[in-house]
Amino acid sequence: MTTTVETPTRTPVADAVKVLPPYEPQSAAAARRLLRPTLRGWELEGLVEAGELIVSELAGNAAKTGCRRRMTVTVERVTDRCVRISIRDGSRTLPCLIEAGLAAESGRGLALVHHLTGGHWGATLETFGKTVHADLRTRPT
Ligand SMILES: Nc1ncnc2c1ncn2[C@@H]1O[C@H](COP(=O)(O)OP(=O)(O)O)[C@@H](O)[C@H]1O
Ligand SMILES: [Mg+2]
Repeated sequence: MTTTVETPTRTPVADAVKVLPPYEPQSAAAARRLLRPTLRGWELEGLVEAGELIVSELAGNAAKTGCRRRMTVTVERVTDRCVRISIRDGSRTLPCLIEAGLAAESGRGLALVHHLTGGHWGATLETFGKTVHADLRTRPT
């Protein structure tokens, strides 16, 4: 049996952080604009498509909270193979994975994030809000 152990990345890389207004539709686009060059700079082009879907969903959810505090988008290189996308918003309500019915017009965003990350996502409650993160991994070579 072989076990794959993920080692912390050996290349020192700067993580990307951006503070965005929470309500504006442009915030999701700005979050994608942060993600794309960051992943390309790390030579993780293969994660761009899934990463854009995830960051759009998380930014959309943060905007829907109705909270007036700004959202913060962070992209971190956690290991050689893993990137963490996080969005901090000012609401202390936690996200909830729901089972959308066939006819439902909403409620599928987190299910998509769950699928794309293989369940590696979560939320951390903070004093003035929370951070929702999603870990995206490259396929083992
Ligand atoms: N950032 C968030 N803050 C508070 N609640 C959230 C957040 N993200 C998701 N949720 C909750 O989880 C539910 C499911 O999210 P999602 O699957 O994206 O569906 P939708 O956004 O279409 O309602 C949302 O309806 C909301 O109640
Ligand atoms: Mg959503």
